[in-house]
Amino acid sequence: MQRSGMAVLSNLLVVLFIQATLGDVYLHTPRGSNNRLNEQSANRQNANRMFDSQNNNRGGYNVGDLTQNPAGNNANLQYQMGYFMSSDAASSYLDVEWTNQHGCGGSEDSDPHKQNCNLVLQFMCQNEDLPNAENDDKIVPGTNTATQNYQATNNQNENLAAKENRKRNNLQANRGLNEPWEWYDKCNTRERNMGLFTADQVLKNNNGQGVSAATNTRQNPNGNRYGYECPEERDYFPYWHPTPWVDIAVLTDNTSMCDYYKENSFNSRAYGECVEFYPGTNIRRHASPHNNPEDCLAEAGNQWIDFYNYIDKDATATNQNACEQKSTPQMTYKWAVPFDPYDNIRTIQEECLILPPPIDCQQAPWSRSNHLGNGRGGTANTYRWDLPYFPSNLEKRCVFRMRYNISTDDYDPWTTDASANKDLQAGVVSPVQQNPYVNIGADITPFRLAINTAQFGRTFQDRSHPFRMMPRPAAAQAQTIHNINVRGKRGNIVQVYPAVEYDFAPTNLEINDGDLVHFQWTGSNTHNNNNPGGDGQTGDAGEGQGGTDRSNIVEIADLSENFPVPYAQSTLWGNTTIVWSSYALTGNAALTTEDLAVNMASSGYFLCMLTNRCGANSVQAKAAVNNLLNNAPASFAGHLMKVNPGTYHYACSRNNNFSNRSQKGTLKVKASK
Ligand SMILES: *[C@@H]1O[C@H](CO)[C@@H](O)[C@H](O)[C@H]1NC(C)=O
Ligand SMILES: *[C@@H]1O[C@H](CO)[C@@H](O)[C@H](O)[C@H]1NC(C)=O
Ligand SMILES: *[C@@H]1O[C@H](CO)[C@@H](O)[C@H](O)[C@H]1NC(C)=O
Ligand SMILES: *[C@@H]1O[C@H](CO)[C@@H](O)[C@H](O)[C@H]1NC(C)=O
Ligand SMILES: *[C@@H]1O[C@H](CO)[C@@H](O)[C@H](O)[C@H]1NC(C)=O
Repeated sequence: MQRSGMAVLSNLLVVLFIQATLGDVYLHTPRGSNNRLNEQSANRQNANRMFDSQNNNRGGYNVGDLTQNPAGNNANLQYQMGYFMSSDAASSYLDVEWTNQHGCGGSEDSDPHKQNCNLVLQFMCQNEDLPNAENDDKIVPGTNTATQNYQATNNQNENLAAKENRKRNNLQANRGLNEPWEWYDKCNTRERNMGLFTADQVLKNNNGQGVSAATNTRQNPNGNRYGYECPEERDYFPYWHPTPWVDIAVLTDNTSMCDYYKENSFNSRAYGECVEFYPGTNIRRHASPHNNPEDCLAEAGNQWIDFYNYIDKDATATNQNACEQKSTPQMTYKWAVPFDPYDNIRTIQEECLILPPPIDCQQAPWSRSNHLGNGRGGTANTYRWDLPYFPSNLEKRCVFRMRYNISTDDYDPWTTDASANKDLQAGVVSPVQQNPYVNIGADITPFRLAINTAQFGRTFQDRSHPFRMMPRPAAAQAQTIHNINVRGKRGNIVQVYPAVEYDFAPTNLEINDGDLVHFQWTGSNTHNNNNPGGDGQTGDAGEGQGGTDRSNIVEIADLSENFPVPYAQSTLWGNTTIVWSSYALTGNAALTTEDLAVNMASSGYFLCMLTNRCGANSVQAKAAVNNLLNNAPASFAGHLMKVNPGTYHYACSRNNNFSNRSQKGTLKVKASK
């Protein structure tokens, strides 16, 4: 609904609906970092580390540790979650779980909210095995909490060697990296979209570059840098230039916007960028100050190129016909110019691209205002992500991102543009103003409203730590795969907030006969939750060694019971067939169901029962596992399991603490009809 600003401000009824739009978003599956890395404090060390979350300094999960000890400076001792990709025959599902602080979802008509909102889910991947020359573009969590460096250039004619040198000097191998260095340099070079509504905010100028760059926005007027994220791209969706992100879904309170999102998602259409070339060559520069075709083409030699996004390429198809005839109802093959955020393809050439599936658009699940918790029905809000299929079958290294965007009806966010920006000389008053005094009539003094125009209409964000998307094993090409993980971190309910206590995620999973489940979890050894604690309680109540996350799976007979059933009386293990295992046994030995039970009960500390099958890692040969799993690994890569129809309950023996914390789950396998 559109109203003029002044009408809003003079209407008491509407004034009552105005509120400060604060509202954080925290990812629990996959675990969101909220810019944390491995700090032992409750507060994150560096809010600028990777991305602009605008969240509270608490919250977020540390990167996973592979073993029972902190990874410290050794990146090889970190654990990256590994999810099996979908195949061309069957889906792999990951139930994404999050909390968002302000109401969202439901229908505008039947249960309207105090603000408009949308949630945008995206990911970004690269091949796990990169050529050596591209290693500095690798998506990594880092082992140091500092932000990557960045040095701009004022030299419009910088040559390729100088650019590469600048990049090399900026990039620090031990710091986290999501978007490539070129992505930020491009953003800091390109003029910002001058048509955007910026209310009464004064946006910074990048004087040396002669433009006010896309690094300055209404929400980020001072051009602060967060990793190599581009602030203009962060604040707006769908973005109007090519981006490194692939869209998964947009969950909106107004589904009549879905056609717009589908048409404008970069998964399904091209976006343009101004391409300049190094003098006398066909080698493109990675950046240009121009943000529109007119300005771009006014300079001789430039081209405005339409780029496509892709999830894979088919190098065997070398012309349009050969490429596009490979399209199937599920996958579009397109002969087009790929968008390469890494600056590894420096000439403009068409290739055979496999486009990402179209964006999914749904009604956002309902949640209430001023509350970081469950949605309707007392269950966590989730989105079932149908993981991508990469026809190359190459292992990918990825990061997941979720943005939560809230706006008000005080100006129409979709039609208010730069013409409404404060310009007193031209007599333009912004429809919303910083902490305005409003007169409600009735001859009383004006009231001051809490309005920060940099945050009136605001985007929050969380991102996962890097994870892997793995090709499926030969024996699991045609089955549906479900992931069961563990959410939550060390501490009691007030200490972990705004993260959550331990539980399995999803807590209840119902699948069909023949489907596979992949149990997997990751944890940190440094969730000590020490000072500084910001606006929450510090401490790490829980069982076992301080600061450590551990999980395991023991079967229980019933959800209301807390004693594990002895192996001899268990039903889960005897009903399980192992289709794939992350642990290799000696020779051709296969895991028995008893091996599986001890492996999962010990979080991978034991691989099997007997020395002849797994040598020193057997129950027979290895020292006892600590009864609180202190000497067991914090992360568990798991197995792909087929389970016979039935209902099975399980718990974590260490964390489950009746009346204090419940970590229990249920797997129901429905019998086929
Ligand atoms: C947030 O919503 C505003 C409209 O209020 C829109 O202009 C912007 O593109 C949205 N940003 C994201 C990240 O969804
Ligand atoms: C929903 O979006 C449509 C545009 O697609 C717009 O016309 C309509 O006003 C919106 N409804 C509400 C309640 O904001
Ligand atoms: C269960 O949790 C409470 C509160 O954190 C703690 O005091 C108690 O020691 C725990 N029980 C065990 C057996 O660790
Ligand atoms: C399989 O599960 C059923 C109950 O669902 C149980 O009766 C049966 O004993 C289990 N089989 C094995 C081998 O554990
Ligand atoms: C743990 O539960 C016990 C029993 O209900 C209770 O007395 C205690 O306060 C709880 N401790 C915490 C830290 O929640």
